[in-house]
Amino acid sequence: MAYKDVYESWKASPEDFWMQAAGGIDWIKPPSKAFFDQGPAGEWFADAMVNTCWNAVDRHVEAGRGDQLAIIHDSPITHSYRGITYRELRDRVASLAGALRAKGIEKGDRVIIYMPMIPEALEAMLACARLGAIHSVVFGGFAANELAVRIDDAKPKALIAASCGLEPGRVVHYKPLLDKAIDLAAHKPDFCVVFQREQEVAELIEGRDVAWHSFQYGVEPAECVPVEGNHPAYVLYTSGTTGQPKGVVRHTAGQLVALNWTMPNIYGINAGDVFWAASDVGWVVGHSYICYGPLIAGATTIVFEGKPVGTPDAGTYWRVCQNHKVKSFFTAPTAIRAVKREDPNGELIKDYNLRNLQAIFLAGERADPDTIQWLEDKLKLPVIDHWWQTETGWAIAANPFGIELMPVKKGSPSVPMPGHDVQVLDEGGNPVEAGVLGAIAIKMPLPPGTLPTLWNAEDRFKKSYLSHFPGYYETGDAGYIDEDGYLYIMARTDDVINVAGHRLSTGAMEEVLSSHPAVAECAVIGVADTLKGQMPLGFLCLKKGVETPEDQVIKEVVKMVRDRIGPVAAFKSALVVDRLPKTRSGKILRATMAKIADGEEFKMPATIDDPVILDEIAGVLKGAGYGTD
Ligand code: COA
Ligand code: AMP
Repeated sequence: MAYKDVYESWKASPEDFWMQAAGGIDWIKPPSKAFFDQGPAGEWFADAMVNTCWNAVDRHVEAGRGDQLAIIHDSPITHSYRGITYRELRDRVASLAGALRAKGIEKGDRVIIYMPMIPEALEAMLACARLGAIHSVVFGGFAANELAVRIDDAKPKALIAASCGLEPGRVVHYKPLLDKAIDLAAHKPDFCVVFQREQEVAELIEGRDVAWHSFQYGVEPAECVPVEGNHPAYVLYTSGTTGQPKGVVRHTAGQLVALNWTMPNIYGINAGDVFWAASDVGWVVGHSYICYGPLIAGATTIVFEGKPVGTPDAGTYWRVCQNHKVKSFFTAPTAIRAVKREDPNGELIKDYNLRNLQAIFLAGERADPDTIQWLEDKLKLPVIDHWWQTETGWAIAANPFGIELMPVKKGSPSVPMPGHDVQVLDEGGNPVEAGVLGAIAIKMPLPPGTLPTLWNAEDRFKKSYLSHFPGYYETGDAGYIDEDGYLYIMARTDDVINVAGHRLSTGAMEEVLSSHPAVAECAVIGVADTLKGQMPLGFLCLKKGVETPEDQVIKEVVKMVRDRIGPVAAFKSALVVDRLPKTRSGKILRATMAKIADGEEFKMPATIDDPVILDEIAGVLKGAGYGTD
């Protein structure tokens, strides 16, 4: 079947399409129908009974894949390699789940997971899934304060952490961060499970902390607990406009059906194949394509603890692809830009035999045509950009490689996937003509596997996504669709920026900056960066009479962002200005400032209060070396 036929078959009858896709899942009680018009956005397969861990692990052992590797851990940072078969994974997860159950974890309880890229992170996720507990994984690059915010929102009964993470040349001390987060949070978990790594053994707090291995001693392994199709599988926090992150909820059955559909149809991956997503379990890519997607499909997934460059060199990606016979490889464009910068002629690629590799998938930020061209030239393989969000859990638009490789148009993530009726709308909510820029929206309902709501925040869910364009989900991205139906994602419509494929809130950074005693007012924008796509840049208006030297204030706010949000914010620069440009209603003109910083043409906003301030800002930016290329 061609893509067009598949997409049309979905459009003709979404119910039949998704019920057929549901055939790939082992149900305890099959769904009576696909779509349920309930909840704020509709729900999928709500009356089914099912278990995610069974589908991701146990059923493959039953089907004779027990000896196949489920997980390969490849860590150039620790120079180690380890494989875990599906049988071993089942036994390890059942034991961990049994120990969690013995400590009181039950269906519906929340468990926060704060772990680096080690197989135990996936085992912790799967153990929660086995019990019907709702996990919330927090990225290791966030600071204690961010972890505390998530603890207070999710109210977990337990936290599962590792003693440390390993960044090149630096040990990330997880345990002190965990302790500090629990101190800061109003909610206190009943207990913490700590996986002790040999690189740093953490001190446990008696009565609260238990060690990963010893707390499993002598426990009864847990069987898979049946849950409803609309039972939350997890909550994953993502950046919004304010400092309070949004808890994206994922329902169990929708995720199973959708991810199982994507593995062969988008990624060309079937049971027995090796799939690698070089991301982190703390991001949605890690949830969908390091943990659940490949395992649900019975493939082998790779947990990579390293960087595209420097661990030890820019050939690492190709070594992993060669050594583990990776068939489809998924990474972020920023990582490829890092590789290209170190190895512009692709000399290191020649050292490896990549005959198993069939395609490379890029997501997380816009894939710039130069990066795609470089990869195509060097690898002579399809390079596929696809577009999605934490909220959607899987690709809204992609080149459906597993169905057919459509002509690649560089700069476009290609065409909508089944389930997504993507429209470009004007401010009034009317679809615009091909080629015209507008807000990208998806006609409701969204397909299985996408967010049905936000955790404990239904009103915020409706306000953030459903109310601006009634009948549509607002993606927060702007772009256009060309005459051939290809999508182009050009920018965010909100104050979210994308730094090295990481989604960050400028609002959250502004909250930190404005808490500095010398700062009267501030703004943070994303400026173009050749490696990371964007980098945050702060603007500070200082209070009258402040005696602290400007450089000192800047140093202090940089440190504050690192301490409060985390190193992942990559906040390194700020400029002191007299005033900030605003509209007459007082809204800071961040988008215009970003255009000036990037040296782009801009239209003077009609609502600007005092245009002279823009000249002042341009002068300061120029003085600091921005906007001059
Ligand atoms: N735990 C703790 N700290 C982390 C971390 C983690 N899991 N991940 C990143 N950090 C830290 C880094 O060490 C760095 O700290 P530093 O300021 O002390 O150097 C900081 O956060 C910024 O990290 P990053 O933006 O990743 O920059 P980098 O300079 O370390 O590496 C790239 C640049 C391009 C190599 C890197 O960003 C990369 O591999 N990106 C891939 C993006 C990706 O996979 N995105 C997921 C979405 S698909
Ligand atoms: P996240 O929720 O962290 O996955 O970030 C989602 C956002 O990243 C999207 O809303 C886009 O702004 C951006 N993004 C992700 N993938 C792409 C892509 N392929 N092309 C353009 N932008 C992308």
